[in-house]
Amino acid sequence: MKKSGFILFSLILVAFAVVLYSCKKESYSFGQNPEDEYSEPVLPSQTHDYAKKHGVNSDLATLGRVLFFDKKLSGNKTTSCGSCHKQEFAFADNVKFNRGADGHELTRNSPSIQGLKGFKVDVIDSINGSFPNRTNQEEILLFWDGRQRSMADMVLNPVVNHKEMNMPDFATLIQTLKATNYYVDLFNKAYGNNEITQEKIAFALQGFLACLNTKAENSPSTSSAQSQSNQDAHLTAFEKTGKKLFHEKYNCATCHDPLAPVATTVFVPNGGYQGGSTPVVTMPSGEKITFMFNIGLDATPKDQGLGAITNIGGDKGVFKVPTLQNIAVTAPYMHDGRFATLESVVEHYSHGINDTRTLAPMFRNLNGSVKNLNISTIERDAIVAFLKTLKNDDFLTSPMYSNPFKKS
Ligand code: HEC
Ligand code: HEC
Repeated sequence: MKKSGFILFSLILVAFAVVLYSCKKESYSFGQNPEDEYSEPVLPSQTHDYAKKHGVNSDLATLGRVLFFDKKLSGNKTTSCGSCHKQEFAFADNVKFNRGADGHELTRNSPSIQGLKGFKVDVIDSINGSFPNRTNQEEILLFWDGRQRSMADMVLNPVVNHKEMNMPDFATLIQTLKATNYYVDLFNKAYGNNEITQEKIAFALQGFLACLNTKAENSPSTSSAQSQSNQDAHLTAFEKTGKKLFHEKYNCATCHDPLAPVATTVFVPNGGYQGGSTPVVTMPSGEKITFMFNIGLDATPKDQGLGAITNIGGDKGVFKVPTLQNIAVTAPYMHDGRFATLESVVEHYSHGINDTRTLAPMFRNLNGSVKNLNISTIERDAIVAFLKTLKNDDFLTSPMYSNPFKKS
């Protein structure tokens, strides 16, 4: 080989090695126990008092917390629930679409899982406590398209969903946990024996999810114990203006009640659109309310939301109303993460609403034309300033909800 040829060859080799190395680094950060993680959960010697704060047995919630953040629950041990639902982002993530354990990109934005109604996990007083009666559970619309109504039924779905955690089956999951030493003690404490079953895993996860309630934390913006006027005391004049615009001038609260854990909605029959099904939830009070609307993101929605589940034309483009708690940290926004900032969300309501068959009736004028809200720039900024006050730093940083595998 000529000298120049040899140099070229060596250069190609070096380049190849660099590429290989960086790929390896990439897959390493996806892999088992990256450098910033412990191989076993680090838990406080005295368990956090979930019972006092959330009415959930503390040992059950502790087990749930470990399960939630444990990558061993995925087929290739790369992904936990907490990989997509991160505490610092109010249990959402800061990317448009997450990737599942097998590297595939999901098609919907990871929602913030906090304050979800429907958990109603009874406090287990005796450690041999029975599982809660399903009929006691509040009904809830889960997922952006509301396709599931029971937390007990959904909670283990991501584990075996091949696009998410890709665990082959529940038998493998149970085998894996049985072979993991720290679960012996955790199951013993939570249930009084170390037998591991699918039902027990699901119940513990539910127990932890029931604790993800930002309203239980002390924060001036969300403390339910305070009166309305006290709640406003910490707001600046500008934020108060934003609050008024949100509630009174632009009626955002018709769909989003920012102080409710999940948006509550005045009831509109059939969701208010012609020919739609009736995505209503019956509350314990007997009141029926709908949580799902089409806000005109697209004239022809690519993702049909509820319509893809019911196969009814009148449900196309209809999505669940998300909570606005901690909304400042859950960007990007909407079911497809299309908006990077709160300003762009408000711009949508201001002049971006598309005419589409199932558009929510509050976005139509009496003559049927689309009613964009025409929010001025200063009003937009005030609304955004108000939305940012719905943040609770205690919730976003408390060790009670943090990843016990993560080195701090
Ligand atoms: C790879 C990312 C990923 C992983 C891992 C993951 N999720 Fe999710 N989760 C999502 C996405 C995306 C959605 C919304 C899907 C949809 O609406 O179609 C979602 C929805 C949810 C919801 C419904 C929230 C609501 O407001 O309706 C709950 C609850 C939930 N996940 C809990 C979990 C639990 C528990 C685990 C672990 C067992 C888990 N997730 C693992 C991405 C993930
Ligand atoms: C007709 C009911 C309705 C009204 C009125 C409404 N919204 Fe929404 N909002 C929704 C729905 C439904 C979504 C989710 C839509 C989707 O992803 O397809 C949403 C999404 C959002 C989001 C993104 C949340 C997230 O987690 O991605 C924000 C922020 C928001 N709305 C703020 C507002 C503001 C501010 C107003 C008033 C100017 C308002 N909304 C009025 C129903 C409504």
